[in-house]
Amino acid sequence: MCADDIPSLGRAELLSRRVQDIPASGIRRFFDLIAGMEGVISLGIGEPDFVTPRRFTEAAIRSLNDGHTHYTSNYGLLELRRALSAHLERLYGVHYDPTNEIIITAGVSEALLLATHAILNPGDEVLCPDPCFVAYMPCVVLAGGVFIPVSTEQENDFLIRAPDLEARLTPQTKAILLGYPSNPTGAAMTRDDLLPIADLAARRNLLVIADEIYDRLTYGFQHTCFASLPGMRERTILLGGFSKAYAMTGWRVGWACAPADILEAMMKVHQYVLMSAPTPSQYAALEALRSGEDEVQAMVAEYDRRRRLIVDGFNRLGLTCFEPRGAFYAFPSIRSTGLSDEDFAERLLREEKVVVVPGSAFGQCGAGHVRACYAAPYEQIEEALERIARFVRRVR
Ligand SMILES: Cc1ncc(COP(=O)(O)O)c(C=O)c1O
Repeated sequence: MCADDIPSLGRAELLSRRVQDIPASGIRRFFDLIAGMEGVISLGIGEPDFVTPRRFTEAAIRSLNDGHTHYTSNYGLLELRRALSAHLERLYGVHYDPTNEIIITAGVSEALLLATHAILNPGDEVLCPDPCFVAYMPCVVLAGGVFIPVSTEQENDFLIRAPDLEARLTPQTKAILLGYPSNPTGAAMTRDDLLPIADLAARRNLLVIADEIYDRLTYGFQHTCFASLPGMRERTILLGGFSKAYAMTGWRVGWACAPADILEAMMKVHQYVLMSAPTPSQYAALEALRSGEDEVQAMVAEYDRRRRLIVDGFNRLGLTCFEPRGAFYAFPSIRSTGLSDEDFAERLLREEKVVVVPGSAFGQCGAGHVRACYAAPYEQIEEALERIARFVRRVR
């Protein structure tokens, strides 16, 4: 066959089928609607309204002034890995060797991609609670895996249960991807909730990717690190980050911890896609770990005040909202309005200029709910609730 005989590809065929198969984020589509609107109150984006504490920023500036403008080790600054290792040991009693069991990443976003690429072969299945963070499914699919959503419900506080996971097991099941405290529901799992899942993982030789980015944002509730459960450290990829608890979303810094063989596989991907996490951000993160505890506590206390305001507010309006015990999201049911979650969110934005995200953006089990992020100023939440009350009275 000569070159002229080779049929040329159509325009769509020039793109990867795998990428085309991933739907665009339901959140992004929604944010396009806000562009250019004035007077909008956003409970949409999941990020702290607080600016990064000054001391962390100053540490980054100091590092730049001192000439630390180069790549760090692919693993990240050793000092930061050491501090992180000590931090996790102190909080959860779980030990990771800073030399070969920790990578500093560009946020949990990158760490998720590393984890799925490191462990999945084509066709391997990953079980995950539905609803869940929007990036989980794409990270599994981009790595060639198959995403298997497992239903959770409001009646059960959106907790995932071992029998429901077990019912979806097949010979292809490779891992469980857990994200608790949960985005979008705010659900948090106790140690007793997690133990049967640990038992299942051990019995069926499954890996567990534990996205614990909201570990510090819990209310009257002690977070349990999945890797700290008996026998779980060897089969867990623990992901965490600075974005939420330390108000550092824009710095793009997080971490992945795993047994050395798994971490080495993740490192192979990381070294080619990123080389190393941004150097000034790593210095800011080091300062956050060294001296940021008071700031974390103060922000958590303020989120808790807002959490009570918003949950009471929704329940008073008849938008039933179970009590979120972690992260900074409320996930009320809007079924009593007779609207779909898409219509509710779109009309609320157009008519009252309040942004919430339709629950179905996070999976089928999110339908009939909306996600409202309460990492927004208290007064704005009060005003948003007044606008929502007006809207709900009108549509009912
Ligand atoms: C559950 C969850 N995991 C990961 C991320 C990504 O965080 P990062 O900023 O560390 O990439 C988010 C951000 O919203 C999240 O909610």
